[in-house]
Amino acid sequence: MIFDSHAHYDDEAFDKDREELLQGLRDNDVEFVVNISASIDTCNKTLGLIKDYDFIYGTIGVHPSETGELVNGDELRLKEWASNDKIVAIGEIGLDYYYPEPARECQKNWFRKQIDLAKELKLPVVIHSRDAAADTLDIIKEENVAQCGGVIHCFSYEKEMAKQYIDMGFYLGIGGVVTFKNARKLKETVEFVPLDRIVLETDCPYLAPEPFRGKRNDSSLIKYVAQQIAQIKDIPVSEVYRITYENAKKMYNI
Ligand code: NI
Repeated sequence: MIFDSHAHYDDEAFDKDREELLQGLRDNDVEFVVNISASIDTCNKTLGLIKDYDFIYGTIGVHPSETGELVNGDELRLKEWASNDKIVAIGEIGLDYYYPEPARECQKNWFRKQIDLAKELKLPVVIHSRDAAADTLDIIKEENVAQCGGVIHCFSYEKEMAKQYIDMGFYLGIGGVVTFKNARKLKETVEFVPLDRIVLETDCPYLAPEPFRGKRNDSSLIKYVAQQIAQIKDIPVSEVYRITYENAKKMYNI
């Protein structure tokens, strides 16, 4: 039983064979998928996917790199969409300082506004944080986001940072990156973090695991991630599937 806690099946990379691929996932032991919104456009597409497929749930939210498109009042639109029964979290939201745009103030402003939305609707959050470790942690503490719970998606920081998040009750999203040869730091983090704090994710179509690195990713390839985690922790892979599945169900309240 596989629970892919973070996928982007709205992406154009799936336009040619989306239907066939999604139907086929059930034959590959994929029980649940959460489709993650990242912009106003993908929020709409997520709402379509959760209507069409019973095993797909969704999130509503705008990725930090897309916050430049937002205008005052958009939080009301997001709130209305997030009130759908199959919307299980607010995300992906956060801070991304890899590119200079949008301005950091804009990203922080919308991060806080979307945290407010999660609190109001009592939903967990899916956090995206890249090259912004200190500011992300500051806002999460200031806003007491621990009350919402949720996941730090595609976790990429050090062990010490992982400890801070799991102490607050967050889960860490682990995906294809853990299979990469140069992922020494992340492998150490996975060894350190208890399995009951880890959820599996693809971030598909991105971040396909080895031996498919660079190719289009999908939820069936998550088995390479599970195998890698089992190897790092020296436990049976069935244990990785079972615990991470329970974690994701609990986190998203499904
Ligand atoms: Ni993502």
